Amino acid sequence: MELNQRKGKVMIEQTLEDALSEVYLQISPNILESFPKFRPPVDLYIYDQAVAQVKKFHRAEARLGTEKQAVVATFARENLLFLLRDDYRVYAEHLSRKLGLVLVEDDFKAREVSEIFFIAFRDRMDVFLSQPKIEPFKELLRDVSILAEYLWTDPCRVEFLTKTLHKEYDLSVHSVNTMFIGLGLFVMASGARPERMEVVNLALGLILHDLGMTNVPKFITDKTQYLVWRDRGSIENHINAGLKKLERLEINDPTVRQCMSQHHERLDGSGYPEGLRADSMSMAGRLCAVADSFSAIIGDRPYHSSKVFNEAAGTLIADKGRYEPALTRLLVGLLKEGFPGCVGEDMN
Ligand SMILES: [Fe+2]
Ligand SMILES: [Fe+2]
Repeated sequence: MELNQRKGKVMIEQTLEDALSEVYLQISPNILESFPKFRPPVDLYIYDQAVAQVKKFHRAEARLGTEKQAVVATFARENLLFLLRDDYRVYAEHLSRKLGLVLVEDDFKAREVSEIFFIAFRDRMDVFLSQPKIEPFKELLRDVSILAEYLWTDPCRVEFLTKTLHKEYDLSVHSVNTMFIGLGLFVMASGARPERMEVVNLALGLILHDLGMTNVPKFITDKTQYLVWRDRGSIENHINAGLKKLERLEINDPTVRQCMSQHHERLDGSGYPEGLRADSMSMAGRLCAVADSFSAIIGDRPYHSSKVFNEAAGTLIADKGRYEPALTRLLVGLLKEGFPGCVGEDMN
């Protein structure tokens, strides 16, 4: 195959480039590095300028010998290596381990980045929840900082996070869903570019809100019948258990603590553990309560099927007097119409 000497993206005419980028994602050397060397997880394509066509070059999971690896690396350096965007769940899995790439690679679509973030945080939480120690926490904090930077650059991007919720229920997925929907509400409510540290602390509060649930036996959280008094006590104790874990990790930020301590409080005083009323609840606590409840309703729990998002938001609106109405209204608007003033990217 003869390749033009003046290879590269700059050589591809703009219209052709646009058409290509709809279907293909360019694999930069950084992205290539995130894949296993000998068995790329996706089909690899190259742009052949001689015939102005993209051609399949290597099949996913097939062994890539050393010589061919060098050729592939050259194509990547010369901006001629691609993968199918339709494979994004597969490559998201790999890129999620190098999350910083989403800040420097400008070829990703927002929906792809959201999926990469989702997988990254779900995996981080799997590790952290099983081992809530300082080292896994530092890694989580680093990824949360990357997310804050990503949203600071363009707050509209948060809309895609809110459209990347997963329905299967486990604690890690629930925690990430809660963070994504809570950040969506926060950005919408603040109406301005949020400060990075504000986002970091709120995101941490949202994703860690149920940290104490790891102390509750699975046979209780999975119960299909109504909980008996003792089981309920065990579940309600997850707030204190979580706060103790925060102390051990020396996480003292008030937003993180309020999110954890107040996400089961309700404005009318019917929540727990303190039975706080509206005037004693912080904004972070109100926001985490809405995000957590929404995320719990949409998840496939053993004792109910997941409800569609609009129905879930409607449930919170109908539950009058318990949730911050300004936030539940925002939630409905967010799900129905997206973010005001943001031009949405096709999510299909
Ligand atoms: Fe909780
Ligand atoms: Fe929760």
